[in-house]
Amino acid sequence: MMTKTLLRALAGEALPTPPIWMMRQAGRYLPEYRATRAKAGDFLSLCYNPELAAEVTLQPIRRFGFDAAILFADILLIPQALGADLWFVTGEGPRLSTITSATGVAALRPADAIHDKLSPIYETVRILSRELPAETALIGFAGAPWTVATYMIAGRGTPDQGPAHAFKQADRAAFSALIDRITEATILYLSAQIEAGAEVVKIFDSWAGSLKGADFDDFAVAPARRIIEALKQRHPDIPVIAFPREAGQRYIGFARATGADCVALDNSVAADWAAEHVQIDGCVQGNLAPQHMVTGGPDLVAEAQRITRAFRGRPHIFNLGHGITPDADPDNVAAMIEAVRSA
Ligand code: CP3
Repeated sequence: MMTKTLLRALAGEALPTPPIWMMRQAGRYLPEYRATRAKAGDFLSLCYNPELAAEVTLQPIRRFGFDAAILFADILLIPQALGADLWFVTGEGPRLSTITSATGVAALRPADAIHDKLSPIYETVRILSRELPAETALIGFAGAPWTVATYMIAGRGTPDQGPAHAFKQADRAAFSALIDRITEATILYLSAQIEAGAEVVKIFDSWAGSLKGADFDDFAVAPARRIIEALKQRHPDIPVIAFPREAGQRYIGFARATGADCVALDNSVAADWAAEHVQIDGCVQGNLAPQHMVTGGPDLVAEAQRITRAFRGRPHIFNLGHGITPDADPDNVAAMIEAVRSA
C-alpha cells in the first residue's frame, strides 16, 4: 500500500488535502540552515558534504513536517562534473568558465565520467532514504539541459539568456551537441539518484519561458522527453515532475508531450486556468507566489486557500511557483501549511 501522500498524488489520486513542500525549502530563510552552512564553509562545500547536506535537507522536514524532502544540491553540479569551473560569489550567484565555441563543447568530459565528482551526492541520497520519516517522500533533481546550458555558455545567470540564444543562432550544431551532452549526463545522474533511493525526480527548466516557437519544442520538450523516456525504461515506477517555468500557454500538453507524471506551475499561471487546461492531463504542482512568504497576513491565507480549492478534485501537490527567498519569514511558512490544510 502506498502511504506517502506525494506518491499518491503523483499516481493520479485526488486527495482531500494536497501534499505540501516548497522549492528551496532548505535555505537561507532558516537560521538552522545558515548555521550548518557556516559550519560547511561555502555553498559548494555544503553540497559535497553528505552528512551536512542531509542535515539541511532534514531541517525543514523537522520544523514544518512537509510531505516531501528535496535532495540538497544544485543544478550546476552537472556542468562542474562535465569539466566546467564553478564557484559562487556571495550575494551575486554562480560563476562558471564559459563555452563560446564548438571547441569548448568538444573539450567537455564524456557523460559517463560524471560519477567521480557526483558520488557524494548519491551518498547524501542514501543517508536521507535511511533517515527520513516513513511518510516523507524523497525527491531527487537535475536542471533541464536548456537551463543548464544557459549557465555553461554565459558563465553566470543572465536576465534574458542572451548569450545562450546567440550561441544557438551562431552554431546550431555545436549548441545541439552541448544539449545532447547535458541530456546524457542528466539521464545517468538521475538514474544514480534513483538507485541511491530517490523516489521521485524533478527536472528544473527555470528558463524554459525564453524559448519560443520551434526552439521550445527542440530544446525544452525534446530533451525532457528523452530524459523521461530513458528513466522510465530503467525505472518505470519512479514518477517525474517537470518544471518548464514561464512556459505560459506551452504548459498545455507539456505532460503529454514529455511523458512527465506532473507539471510544476510557476506563479504567473492562473490556478483556475491551469485546472482547466493543464490539470486535465494529470497531476500539477504549484503555485503560490513566493512573495507571500515574505509578506504573510490575510493575503497569504486567502491565496493559499484559493489555489488549494482551484485544484481540488484532481491530483495536486501544493508548492510555491518558484523558490522561497532568503528574506522570507518561517512563521509565514507555518501559516501557509495551516491555510492549505484548513481550506
Ligand atoms: O529546493 C531545494 O531546497 C533543493 C536544493 C536546490 C538548490 N538549488 C539549492 C541552492 C535546488 C533544487 C536548486 C535548483 C537551482 N539552482 C535552479 C533551478 C531552480 C530555480 O531556482 O530556478 C537554479 C537556476 C540554480 C542555480 C543557482 N544556485 C543559482 C542561480 C543560485 C544563486 C541564487 C541564490 O539563490 O543565491 C544558486 C545557489 C543556491 N542553490 C542556494 C541554495 C540553497 C543558495 C546558496 C547559499 O546558501 O548561499
